[in-house]
Amino acid sequence: MASSLTDMYGSLHSNIREILEASQKSNNKVPLAVPPFNYDDYIAAIDTLLSGSLSMGEKVKSFESAFADYLGCKNPGVMVNSGSSANLLSLSILTNASLKERLKPGDEIITPAVTWATTVFPISMVSAKPVLVDIDKDSYNIDVNQIKKAITKKTKAIMPVHLLGNPCKIDEIKEIADANDLFLIEDCCEAHGAELNGKKVGTFGDLATFSFFISHHISTIEGGMILSNNDKYHELGKALRAFGWVRELRDKEKLAKKHSSIDPRFLFITAGFNVRPTEMQGALGTTQLPKLENIIKTRRDNASYWNERLSKHERFISLPIENPGARHVYFCYPISLKPRAPFKQRELVSFLEQKGIETRPVMTGNIARQPALTQMRYRRIGKLPNADYVTKNSFLIGNHTGITKKVREYVADTFEEFFSRYN
Ligand SMILES: Cc1ncc(COP(=O)(O)O)c(C=O)c1O
Repeated sequence: MASSLTDMYGSLHSNIREILEASQKSNNKVPLAVPPFNYDDYIAAIDTLLSGSLSMGEKVKSFESAFADYLGCKNPGVMVNSGSSANLLSLSILTNASLKERLKPGDEIITPAVTWATTVFPISMVSAKPVLVDIDKDSYNIDVNQIKKAITKKTKAIMPVHLLGNPCKIDEIKEIADANDLFLIEDCCEAHGAELNGKKVGTFGDLATFSFFISHHISTIEGGMILSNNDKYHELGKALRAFGWVRELRDKEKLAKKHSSIDPRFLFITAGFNVRPTEMQGALGTTQLPKLENIIKTRRDNASYWNERLSKHERFISLPIENPGARHVYFCYPISLKPRAPFKQRELVSFLEQKGIETRPVMTGNIARQPALTQMRYRRIGKLPNADYVTKNSFLIGNHTGITKKVREYVADTFEEFFSRYN
């Protein structure tokens, strides 16, 4: 029986290899994202599915430890079902009633006006107030001077974002947070492996969050993780992601003794969520992580190539920048029109789309302009002119492992074809 099962798995795996080879499509599209999966990822996912161990277990644990080691974080990560859940969980840790120093309703949290929606929404969901500050137009990241202007007695945290894989000035932001006794939560959802002065983003703040959605550097289809060097936050994270029960806690035996009249398997210590990942996601994370450095290299090579080819056209467009000491990991490739460009963003974008090159806005654009914001109390610092500028004049194209040398040449040629109309 054992050997015939082995044989059956053997033929399943070789069938999968054949299916993957046969289904490799070649079309003319240059998509914003492609699933970053190879044969070994599919095998890991399918074998896990067939193993019968489906809910969160050893494979998730192993990915949590490996990702923390990769970043240089003392505690293993706490994997969840999305980056959005990671942001919600981080803020829920910091509002938890068991903490003496914690966020309270109405406390202000400073965050950039250009980011993904679920950086900002969870702030409101934990009854804190988002304070939106402008970005720097060249790096697309939060403007440190605007952070300084935004601080009041009510400010209790800063939630910067390493937008588009470009490390923000997290060292300066940490100094501001320390000097003002503020919590620091790094949203690293778009920045796997990004570094500032040799230190990985996600290791500067009190808590860090990552997303493993399909378009991100490494993916578990949907998925996310929080990381913290603070033991208390780490333990609270494990309780809050799974109903608030004690099963995964370091002190679970002590707690079971203290509450001996309750079945320890169903002992709830705090009011939690269920944002657990599946074992299949843990398996995917484990096969994906060893590929991350190569994925980053491909994205950086593509960006260097486009920077060089398109630099001739800098009277029309601005190209992404990498600050000194930073390792940019390029989540997509951003392009901004110069104020005096003789064409509109929509003209360039529709030309690219006609040529099969997908585009998208820079995340939500200026989030203060989104109707969802009318449902929450928030504050904005100034008129957010750069956030508006980026909304009107900037866009993203795909930069991922599906962008081969031939594809990136085609992309550069297509831009040049458009610009040649104005030479
Ligand atoms: C900056 C940022 N924060 C949070 C998220 C949310 O992650 P998810 O899509 O996994 O929920 C994203 C998603 O792309 C993001 O870009």
